[in-house]
This record gives sequence, C-alpha cells and structure tokens, in this order.
Amino acid sequence: SNLRRESFPPLIDRWNSWNHFHCNITEEVIRETADALEYTGLAELGYQYVNIDDCWGEYDRDSQGNLVARVSTFPSGIKSLADYVHGKGLKFGIYSDAGSKTCSNTMPGSLGFEEQDAKTFASWGIDYLKYDNCNDPGTSPKERYPKMGAALLNSGRSIVFSLCEWGVEDPATWAGSIAHSWRTTGDIFDSWDSMTSIADQNDKWASYAGPDGWNDPDMLEVGNGGMIREEYVSHFSIWALMKAPLLIGCDVRSITEDTLEILSNSEVIAVNQDSLGIQGKKVASNDSLQVYNSFLDCPLSGGRVAVVLWNRGNSQAMITANWSDLGLSSSTRANVRDLWAHSDIGIAQGQLNATVDSHACKMFVLTPQ
Ligand code: GLA
Repeated sequence: SNLRRESFPPLIDRWNSWNHFHCNITEEVIRETADALEYTGLAELGYQYVNIDDCWGEYDRDSQGNLVARVSTFPSGIKSLADYVHGKGLKFGIYSDAGSKTCSNTMPGSLGFEEQDAKTFASWGIDYLKYDNCNDPGTSPKERYPKMGAALLNSGRSIVFSLCEWGVEDPATWAGSIAHSWRTTGDIFDSWDSMTSIADQNDKWASYAGPDGWNDPDMLEVGNGGMIREEYVSHFSIWALMKAPLLIGCDVRSITEDTLEILSNSEVIAVNQDSLGIQGKKVASNDSLQVYNSFLDCPLSGGRVAVVLWNRGNSQAMITANWSDLGLSSSTRANVRDLWAHSDIGIAQGQLNATVDSHACKMFVLTPQ
C-alpha cells in the first residue's frame, strides 16, 4: 500500500502512567499529574504530553461496540479528561493494543475495530496513541499495525502513532512509514541491569532513527527508586543522547528535588531535541579489565558533538574519548561544556579525558573553535 503517515512533530517528550502506576490509574491521578507538569516547570521544558497507559477502559465494549472508560476510575469519561489537559495547553495520549485484549487482559484491544476506535479517539480529542502488541491472533505486526495507522489518518484528527511492538520483527526496519516511534526492546524495569541491557539493545538500531521517526528504548524509570542517583543521571543522559522519546515515568505529584533536577536539565534536553535528529551511539569500550567503560557520541547541529563518558564498571575509572573516534581531526580545538556541571571547562585538542565514578557518566558538548 501507499500508506504514508502524517508529518508529526519532532521528538516528543512526555509523561506516561505505566512505570509508576501500572493499573492503578484514576482520573484524579491524571488531572493532578497535568497540574504537576505545569507547576514543576516540566511542561515548559518540553514534556507536553500526558499519556494514560493500559487499564483505562471497561472489560467489554458497549452494545454498539464502542470502547468505554472504566466507570469506577474514570467516571467523568475520557473526553472530559482530555478537555482538562488541553485546557492547560498540554496534549493528551491514550493506549490500545493490536490484539483482542490489551496486555493487562483487563480491556479490549482494537484488532478488527481499528476504524471505529480511531474515530472514538478522535471524538475524545486524543493527540497520541501508544499501540501495544499483546493477545494477537498469530498474524504479523506488519499486517496489524498499518491498519491502525490508516485508521488514524482517516479519523479526522492528527494523532501521533507510537508503536509498542517490543522490537519483535525489527520495527525499526519497517515502521518508519507509519509511525512516529517504535519500541526496540522488551519492557524496562527500575534496575541498573535492565537499563544497561536496554541501552545496548537500542544502540544497534541507531541508523534507523531520524527526524521522521525514532527508536523507543522504553520509558524512563528516573525517580521510581530502584537505582541510585548516578545511575539515573546515566539513564537520562544516555536516553537523551540516543534520541529516545523522553517519557517521564515517575509520580510527578511527589517528585523529589533530585529527580526534578535530573529531568529538567535543559542542556541535556537540548541534545535530545537537536535539529539534526541523529541518534548517538556507542563508539568504544574496554572490557579488558572487567571494567566496561564506554563512551557514546552524537553529532549535533552547528558542527558540535555530544559525548557521554559512561563508567559501567564497579570502581572509579578514567575514560578517554579520542577525536578520531568522534569524526574530528586531531588538530581541532574544541570548547568543552559539561552539561551536568553547567559550565565550560576549557579547550581540548585531540582527546578528552575524565575521571568518572562507578555507574556514573559525564556528558559534554564539544564546540570546535
Ligand atoms: C506492555 C508494554 C508496557 C505497558 C504494558 C501495559 O508490557 O510494553 O509498556 O504498556 O504492556 O499492560
């Protein structure tokens, strides 16, 4: 088919209910989250979408086959919630599934109801759909996802399409023509091992990301409590550098100062949002001493380069990024800006060295002089 997706906004940063709340969502939680995105300043920094995940609907469709909001938790209905979020100048996202039921098994999926559900979403004022892949009939996602893509195009409303297909059948290779982003991995968990393994899996799809569509290594766990501060700083820095959609996954109503400081680092967000839209990737590692140090680089607009020096080992280490690995000529002198210290630390030539604590990273932007 000739299906082309609509042209979507650039890389979208947002909040999603799943990582913190799982099925325990209510309309109060969502309203208060929209309020909190506003008063914490996160909305202004770019986190513009409030997205509800699984478990928002009743177990069955109504007698006309329409999806309906779960009366016990969303008594005012989805339209009224979307109106509330829009009233704050924010956008509203929802979740469905390309199978007979969603992944929680508590509500219907959209398989066979794509047109009808897309029209329902449009009538509610939905701006964004996350489309999951549970309870499928055994047919390929390549058959099931384009149907919803077409239905959204036909819905009368501009709705961003986000594939949650966990990387089965390599969506990076085919989803670009129908979707704004596609998952490259299984679900993230709030642990160092999960986060690092997902970063590695996402790395190999780097060449498929670009201003038209993005690899999605799943939502952020920053602020959910399972990792130490240095690990969350690494998580946020790497996701930003990999041009991942930055999806806040914590409870912003009770956000700590530490978490807010990480999620609001505007210099790191600017790398994520850079106009070139090139996904940073791993360019070197050193396993020889059982210390897995790596650095990741990413070309930015204006001839600049972002570099993350990440220490994945268990003790402090010196990490070096050579200009040759960054595509810079060895004679290039570059101003070095430290994005976590928020300061220029000097001019470097040929290489950049830094001492990095265990599980921590340092993130720099190099500006050739
Ligand atoms: C899948 C997805 C998660 C979340 C849950 C909801 O596991 O990958 O992101 O949406 O379903 O049940």
